[in-house]
Amino acid sequence: MKIKWLILPIGLSLLSGCTTENQRQVEETLAPVGEVEKPDTKNEHNEELTEEEQAHLALIESLPEDASSDDWNLLLVNNWTPLPEGFEPNLQEVEPEKSVDTRIVEPFKNWMDAGQKAGHQLYFASGYRSVERQQSNYDRSIDKFKQEGFSEEKAISKTEEYIAIPRRSEHHTGLAVDIVDQQWIADGNGLTPDYDTQESQHWLLETMADHGFVLRYPEGAEDLTDIHYESWHFRYVGKENAMFMTEHDLVLEEFVALLKEKEAN
Ligand code: DAL
Ligand code: ZN
Repeated sequence: MKIKWLILPIGLSLLSGCTTENQRQVEETLAPVGEVEKPDTKNEHNEELTEEEQAHLALIESLPEDASSDDWNLLLVNNWTPLPEGFEPNLQEVEPEKSVDTRIVEPFKNWMDAGQKAGHQLYFASGYRSVERQQSNYDRSIDKFKQEGFSEEKAISKTEEYIAIPRRSEHHTGLAVDIVDQQWIADGNGLTPDYDTQESQHWLLETMADHGFVLRYPEGAEDLTDIHYESWHFRYVGKENAMFMTEHDLVLEEFVALLKEKEAN
């Protein structure tokens, strides 16, 4: 029964003169078993690895080959990893007073154009932010919570749920973008997690990896990112990395840690 499946893709690829996905699968199927490299199932002390450890090793083996934890598009900035000393972003304005890193202008614009074509009126709320601007957002939020009656300590912790500590925001890199849709704003909403009730947000999630972006602060990842779920904040990491992170449900902290583990061995 399998023969039909073998002949058809090979015949088709001979006709078209190119390698099809099916042909690759057939070739993989036909590879002699002896040539297939098996992942290690024992550690350096010859102890059997648990299934979880084996899965972890397999994940490291499958990391995008050319990715390095030093790559510009994987620059990690978070509450415990401040912007590198002397960091100077290379910015380009994409809308009046809204800039991003020059290297992501094209993928970002392509993504926004695709959104327009798909019928979504997207609103680019924020891209690059200076440390001074972050400081003023941060201070203003603390003041607002204090005016609402919260103690200083509580006002700070509530602020830091959604606003990174100044110098520790990846908006300083020019690689992060906040996107919602125009109607959402016109209806009196802001950058709030429930933006994920909107079709445009679903479209952003479905298409982000193709354009090299990931949702940077997903729901349930607060312990890893130190930031609450932000349905509107996307981060450029490059297409191959974004596809891998999305497929394996990894946040940037995890992805960079895996790369470092690979590089250390
Ligand atoms: N809202 C994100 C975490 C920031 O302030 O950078
Ligand atoms: Zn943001």
